[in-house]
Amino acid sequence: MSTLPMVVPDPGLPSKVTIYEVGPRDGLQNEKSVVPTEVKAAFVKRLLDAGLPVVEATSFVHPDWVPQLADAADLMTGLTADLGDAARQLPVLVPNRRGLDRAVGLGLRHVAVFASATETFADKNLNRTLASQFEMFEPTIEAALAAGMDVRGYVSMCFGDPWEGAVPIEQVVAVGTRLLDLGVGQLSLGDTIGVATAGHVKALVAAFADAGVACERLALHFHDTYGQALTNVHAGLQSGVTTYDASAGGLGGCPYAKSATGNLATEDLVWFLTGLGIEHGVDLDAVVGTSVWMAQQLGRPSPSAVVRALGSADS
Ligand code: HMG
Ligand code: MG
Repeated sequence: MSTLPMVVPDPGLPSKVTIYEVGPRDGLQNEKSVVPTEVKAAFVKRLLDAGLPVVEATSFVHPDWVPQLADAADLMTGLTADLGDAARQLPVLVPNRRGLDRAVGLGLRHVAVFASATETFADKNLNRTLASQFEMFEPTIEAALAAGMDVRGYVSMCFGDPWEGAVPIEQVVAVGTRLLDLGVGQLSLGDTIGVATAGHVKALVAAFADAGVACERLALHFHDTYGQALTNVHAGLQSGVTTYDASAGGLGGCPYAKSATGNLATEDLVWFLTGLGIEHGVDLDAVVGTSVWMAQQLGRPSPSAVVRALGSADS
């Protein structure tokens, strides 16, 4: 390992990016097998040690809906015993008050609600309508803010929906601005099924700007189904967005969205940003080593091109 790309900046791009790691949550929620809690804890710790500034650890959702993350409380209790306050800073997903109460009970400080931009996915993922999902989020966000917590808001199916097809940009902006109005700090725009292309990314960021939402409030969350994720990151950088979600080893998907494959791999993103001379603070070798180790735990190779190029069995 220790191979890095030659650094040749592309003028006009941001000089620094925040990588928001979602592997332990978005990655493991979609695994067929349930990963043991101690392996999840080791995964989170290795990612933090690799320099990832934010590691989304798990979800406080209904355990029947996502059995892979049913051990959320045990995981966070164990991490807190081990890492102290650093574990309380790890974000977790909460869809509703019940999920928030579980997170608050453990002293966690950062939560994320997850909305749908489409009617069908709101039904499939949240058992709500497009309109009624907000009745669930409003009291959740209000209580989290009252408890001094920080709330992220995801919007799924921003670039296309497997049941409804094209998703109008104004529909995505309407859902996103509603979440911002409810008090979320950062909005993560999700390409849940990986159909986004570069022009679409720029158009969506521009539509949010037209609605008064600065690119500093936005994060982009790409899945790599059609191999477009890094091209889409480039488009996002050109639009001024500086936070990108990624998943170590390219693990991931959504159990309630057919055709959702893995997220943009953290390693692929780190390679790309490094070549552009964009600061990210992440040790590429350490993440690759983590993904090789996780692939061994899961019994299948990582789909990440960079992990395949740099990884070796003895990592
Ligand atoms: P529901 O059945 O409508 O829930 O599900 P309910 O409010 O009617 O409650 C029914 C029972 O569930 C009650 O228990 C509640 O207490 C319990 P009872 O009184 O019958 O004994 N309950 C809970 N228990 C534990 N934790 C909770 C919880 N909430 C209710 N939080 C619900 C509604 C939202 C709960 C359900 O639909 C759900 O859990 N959905 C989660 C689906 C999910 O996690 N999907 C993956 C994450 S989203 C994603 O991956 C996309 C993203 O990556 C971005 C992108 O790529 O686009 C973020
Ligand atoms: Mg996702």
